[in-house]
Amino acid sequence: MGFVDLHNHLLYGIDDGCDSPGETLEAARLLVELGYAEAAPSPHAIAELPSGDPAVCEARRAEVAALLAREGIPLALHPNAENRLDEAFLERLDGPARRGIGATQRWALVEAPFQLEVPALADLVFRIRRKGVSPLFAHPERCVEFERAGRAEEVVRLGGALQLNVGALVGAYGKTARKLAEHFLGDGLYAVAATDLHAPRSARRFLEDGLAAIEKRAGSAGLQRLCAENPRRVVAGEELA
Ligand SMILES: [Fe+2]
Repeated sequence: MGFVDLHNHLLYGIDDGCDSPGETLEAARLLVELGYAEAAPSPHAIAELPSGDPAVCEARRAEVAALLAREGIPLALHPNAENRLDEAFLERLDGPARRGIGATQRWALVEAPFQLEVPALADLVFRIRRKGVSPLFAHPERCVEFERAGRAEEVVRLGGALQLNVGALVGAYGKTARKLAEHFLGDGLYAVAATDLHAPRSARRFLEDGLAAIEKRAGSAGLQRLCAENPRRVVAGEELA
C-alpha cells in the first residue's frame, strides 16, 4: 500500500514551501521515490500569505495535479491546509471553507505554537470536536505545550490525533523534538507520520533516514499504520486504527 503524506508544502509560490514548478516536481518525485502514492499538500492558512486564500490554494493544487499528470508522476493530490490553532480557525469551522483534509473535511491539520504554551488546549480540542471536526495536531514534538507531562495523552483521549514529522526522529528539529518524538512513538501516541516537506533538496536525507527510523522502532506494520493506513482513513473521514 502506497504511503499518503498529510503534511507538506509541495504547492509552489504560495507559502514558505516550494518556490517554483521545478521545485514542486522535484519534491513530488522525491515523495514517489520514498513510497508515496498520495499527498495532501498543506499550505499555511495564514492571512498574510497567498495561501491564506483557499481559492488560491485550490487553483494551485489543480495546476500542480495537471503538471504531475503531464510529467507522468503518479502522486494523487487531496485538499488540505495547515491551520493555526486560533479563534480564526474555530470560526472557519462553522462556514463552508473549513480547510480540512480531503473531500470529507472531517479531519483538519492544526498546528499549536512552537514556543507558546496553550493552557486551554483541552478546551480547544473539545470545542473543535463539537463542531464535528477532529483535529490532527501537526508535529507536537516541536511544540512547547506538548512538553507538559500528560498533555499528548490527554489530547488523544479527547479525540484529537498526533502527527509525527518524519525527520524529528533523526534530529532534523533538534534534540528536544527528537526525544519527545521517541517518547510519543514508544507510547503509541502518534496516529500519523508525515514529511512536512518544504524544499526537496535538503529533505531527502532526513526523510529516508526518518522513515527507516520509524520502521526500526515501530516495525513494518507500524510504518504502514502511520504512513499509509491512518492517513488514508483521515482522507476518507474515518476513525483511526
Ligand atoms: Fe507545515
